[in-house]
Amino acid sequence: MAQYDVIIIGGGPGGYNAAIRAGQLGLKAAVVEKGPTLGGTCLNVGCMPSKALLHASELYSAAANDFATLGIDVTPSLNLPQMMKQKAESVTALTKGIEFLFRKNQVDWVKGAGKIAGPGKVEVTDAEGKVTTLEAKNIVIATGSEPAGLPGVEVDQKRIVDSTGALSLPEVPKSLLVIGAGIIGLELGSVWRRLGAEVTVVEFLDRITPGMDTETAKTFQRALTKQGFKFKLSSKVTGAKASKTGVKLTVEPVAGGPAETLEAEYVLLAIGRRPFTEGLGLESVGVTPDKRGFIPTDHWKTTAPGVWAIGDVTLGPMLAHKAEEEAVACIETIAGKSGHVNYGIIPSVVYTAPEVAWVGKTEEELKAEGRAYKAGKFPFAANSRAKINHETEGFIKVLADAVTDEVLGVHMIGPSVSEMVGEYCVAMEFRASSEDIARTCHPHPTRSEALRQAAMGVEGWTMQA
Ligand code: FAD
Ligand code: NAI
Repeated sequence: MAQYDVIIIGGGPGGYNAAIRAGQLGLKAAVVEKGPTLGGTCLNVGCMPSKALLHASELYSAAANDFATLGIDVTPSLNLPQMMKQKAESVTALTKGIEFLFRKNQVDWVKGAGKIAGPGKVEVTDAEGKVTTLEAKNIVIATGSEPAGLPGVEVDQKRIVDSTGALSLPEVPKSLLVIGAGIIGLELGSVWRRLGAEVTVVEFLDRITPGMDTETAKTFQRALTKQGFKFKLSSKVTGAKASKTGVKLTVEPVAGGPAETLEAEYVLLAIGRRPFTEGLGLESVGVTPDKRGFIPTDHWKTTAPGVWAIGDVTLGPMLAHKAEEEAVACIETIAGKSGHVNYGIIPSVVYTAPEVAWVGKTEEELKAEGRAYKAGKFPFAANSRAKINHETEGFIKVLADAVTDEVLGVHMIGPSVSEMVGEYCVAMEFRASSEDIARTCHPHPTRSEALRQAAMGVEGWTMQA
């Protein structure tokens, strides 16, 4: 029977980062993965393919709508099969990259579905049904999440799709109804909108993107509306009927009132994701998921000795970089080091155009905590690089403690903010004041100057115009 220091169940960002760190620290590690490739949701049907399509569709839309302003006259024609092919090739290159890192760090990839079969024991059933039992001092659960369903809306991956189906539609829909104005709905809705689909988003709440700073979310909704998105807020979907050519969706106001029928060629169901623990054998070690299916943990330890859990299957934001942070901290703790995750500094990004990025507290959270804060805000319309690039939509808003000036949060909407939020993550990790950032020289002309100008705004001395 094969013996390991650590067996990790699930080969996504949580699982593969845990395995690589284990290899680096000299622990004998194996990853059990039931899918045909490593990389989990993120690499195969999540972060990576969605960003590949967002990048390609953004360039298509720029060629169709923005190049003429720059003096470049082109009429782009869409080659959807090629767009899908380059997406698939990028994904394959990335999943192969994980295989390479496993070999480099002496990590075993055990192919098959893993089931915990008691303390220190994992049974693996491969595609042919052959069962192998492995033994380990530590088991790390990194089984991730799956799309949440909605009663009355049956995903057939033909006309009614989830995020996986929406990444591989065979044609540009004439019309697309998106259920849920969250990150998936707006990112994948953007892909198809840019390629020509009429996109209507039906959202239960009276706002889009819950969790995002409200002022930023309002600006974001206005920007998407300008791009042709239609929103039906405070509305609930009560049923869906698919035919060969389209879908009829029954929608009711949340506050009550008459139902209406919306029709579209395709429907994307994107109302959140739920933790995945099916067939995992948690009962064999006495671990009980909470009411919503998450595995409760304390510093990545479950209630069973030697059994750990990280990533989407545990509480917290369902983000690849959160899973990665936990992976490293969990393995370092197993190796006797002091693993640490700063849960207050986990950034969020929506990769639309404009992009939205934030880290730390929102204004609403600070108000609810009764914490006195000052805000500095700087519009991209006043940033010289954004102006010459014709990308002036959006702003950066810095929130700092009214007494100590420590940066408590930053909220950005505009060009390239996904690449800029990291500066504030570092600053906040070092507990910077807004003045620290305001007095740090930034290169001119760059969009990053807006980071500094927003910090200068906290004390009211922004300069750039
Ligand atoms: P997963 O990546 O879900 O991996 C779990 C793995 O475990 C899977 O490969 C699964 O096959 C395997 N598994 C499950 N059970 C078993 C078992 N019993 N035996 C063996 N294997 C098993 N996050 C970001 O940070 N940035 C983004 O831009 C982003 N974009 C996204 C876009 C989409 C469309 C989606 C759906 C998600 C996106 N996410 C993004 C979220 C991100 O994909 C997840 O947060 C991340 O993948 C979680 O990592 P994980 O390792 O916890 O789980
Ligand atoms: P989400 O939680 O971001 O948004 C779901 C939305 O659906 C919410 O606005 C919610 O109010 C709404 N909703 C829920 N039930 C509804 C109903 N019955 N009818 C209408 N609306 C309803 O979930 P989403 O978009 O599915 O994404 C899941 C997770 O995947 C995200 O929370 C995020 O963690 C991750 N993700 C991250 C990305 C990134 O980092 N850029 C990109 C894509 C996904």
